[in-house]
Formats: sequence, C-alpha cells, structure tokens
Amino acid sequence: MSKPTLDQLEELVAQALSRIEACANGDELTACEAEVHGKRSAFTQLQRSLGELEPEARREAGSTLQSARRRVLDAYARREGVLAEGERQAQYEADRLDLGDVVAAHVRLPLRAGHPGIIATTQATLEDVFVGMGFTIADGPQIETDWYNFEALNIPPAHPARGMWDTFYVELGEPETVLLRTHTSPTQIHLMEEAVANDTLPIHAVMPGRCFRRDTPDARHLAAFHQIEGLVVDEGITFADLAGVIEKFTKEYFGPEITSRLRPAYFPFTEPSAEFEITCTLCRGAGCRTCSQTGWIELGGCGMVDPAVFAAVGIDTSRYSGFAFGFGIDRCAQMRHGIADMRAIADNDVRFLEQFS
Ligand code: DAH
Repeated sequence: MSKPTLDQLEELVAQALSRIEACANGDELTACEAEVHGKRSAFTQLQRSLGELEPEARREAGSTLQSARRRVLDAYARREGVLAEGERQAQYEADRLDLGDVVAAHVRLPLRAGHPGIIATTQATLEDVFVGMGFTIADGPQIETDWYNFEALNIPPAHPARGMWDTFYVELGEPETVLLRTHTSPTQIHLMEEAVANDTLPIHAVMPGRCFRRDTPDARHLAAFHQIEGLVVDEGITFADLAGVIEKFTKEYFGPEITSRLRPAYFPFTEPSAEFEITCTLCRGAGCRTCSQTGWIELGGCGMVDPAVFAAVGIDTSRYSGFAFGFGIDRCAQMRHGIADMRAIADNDVRFLEQFS
C-alpha cells in the first residue's frame, strides 16, 4: 500500500465515516476505531509525514489533518451514542413482560369466587323467617358490662346462676367489670332501655349475634358461637303467644314435619321459664345417638320476662308483659344440615365449607 497523501484526506475521512456508520455494535466500533486511528492507520502515517514538511506548510497541513480527525472522532462518538441507545431499547424489549399473557393464563383457570359461610346464611334465613312473622332485627355490642350481661337480667353478683355462663372477662382498666357477652340476652336490655327513653314501646324484635364462653370446644359447643334472641314486649302478651311463636318458627325453618315442645326450666330473667326442644331432625323423632334416643333436641330457652328485668329498665308491669327466647344459630345450622361435629364450622376447611355454597 502506497503512502497516503494529504490530497486523499477527504477520501480517507469519507471512508472512515462510512465504516463507522456500518458498525453494528460497540465491539465493532472499538475495533474500527483502533484501525482508523491506530499506529498503522492512514491518519497516523499522514501525521508522521508532516515532519517532512517546511514549518509553514506543516502548520497548515497539521490543522487540516486535525480538523479531519476531529470530524471522524465526532462521528465515532455519535455512532457510539446511537448504538448504546439501540442496545438499551433491545434490553427493554427483552425484559418486557406482557401482562396480557399473565392475565390470559389466569383466565384459563376456573375462577373460584367465595361465598357466604354457613353461619351467615343460616342467620339470614332465620332473620327472614322472623321478619315474615312481624319481627324487626336489632343488634347489640359483643363487649358488655357486667350490668347488661348479668345484673339487669336478674343475675346479681355471686348469684349461683352465674355458673351457667363461663365468662371471658376483659381487662380494660374500666371502673366497671367488662366482659365478652355470654349470650345475646343483654341486647334485650339495650332495646328496652332505648324503647323507654324514646317512648317507642311495644317491641317485637330478634337480635342475632356472636357470643363467647370459656367452654372447651366439642361436637356440640364452640367457645365463640352465635345466638338469636327474641323479645316481645306489648300489652296482653301471654305464654300462649310465646308457645305459638316457637311452634310457628319451628315449622317455618325446619319444615312442616318438625314440631316443638316446651319443658319447664330455670332462667333468672324469665318466669316461668322453659327449654324448647324440636323433633330431632336426624332421626325425625325415632331416636338416635344425636338425640340420646329421646327423639328431641334442645334448641334454646324461653319464658315470660321476669318483673325484676322490667324493673331494671323501668317498664311498667301493670301495662306491659312480654316473652323472650334465645337459641343457638350454630345449633340450627347443625340440625338443618346434619353436621355431626360443630367444630367443623370453625375449622375453615374448604372441603367442608364448599358443601354449603
Ligand atoms: N340466654 C340464655 C342462654 O344463653 C338463653 C335464653 C333463655 C334466652 C331464656 C332467653 C330466655 O331470652 O328467655 O343460655
């Protein structure tokens, strides 16, 4: 190869520029730069040949060469920027996650929506039955004072009847004793107080809700369970009204072939009091293990509101009388759906829960 001359400079620049443009990546560009500006490159040879010139001509040729080199170096830097940007874009493309694919993969799976639990549906059905019989629905606090859970219900401190309810006490630093309600009966007290304060008697209400007892869970008991309380306070209410409501409810909820019966019992807040039982839904009255061969299952308690309870809330017993009842929602679910062990309701085992969707 003959020595390059300054006349060829423009041609050399054009060649260098087109080679730079042709580089497809950073490595090619590095190699290209080494060739274009390396020791044996035309540019370096030209640079060297400047020494042979007269000083005046050398200065002129030097600056021409310098500016030619600068154009090539600028082109190199520009190309480097373009290639780096291209590589970045390629990386973005490679890293791109198409969420459409992810969603499509999920849509192909059968979607499993949740559904209300068996206690929620049982409670809703019970409420429907009572609303159909003219009752309203009321709610009350799950954390109560001793007065609402016991005293106003005619269960004074140290009364032996307190042993009927193993209680969880709550230490809140309150002056009063605070506890988790052991039954829904305290909601009766709230309702009667409100009705007296607002002068809205009579009351025909049911009060569903969660209750708590320090019981060891077994096939028929849970430490957190649900009751539905009933309260009617009106003029001329008698025990026959109570028995009629219980029987009507039993047939509406469990079916026409199931019947109810009342047996004498004791509750501090009712007088007289009764336990109410229904035909065992498992054996239809024939006798089985669940009903201890009696053909009957106890569902709850009931009775005529004790005058001491009316006195606690200031209801005039010369004008009003009333009845109350309370029973387990969980027990209703157990009876209606033939659930052998109540603990399954609280276990959250999907295989069990799905049976009631
Ligand atoms: N509160 C009672 C219990 O949990 C059930 C009960 C009995 C409620 C008699 C009543 C009633 O309203 O009159 O054991």
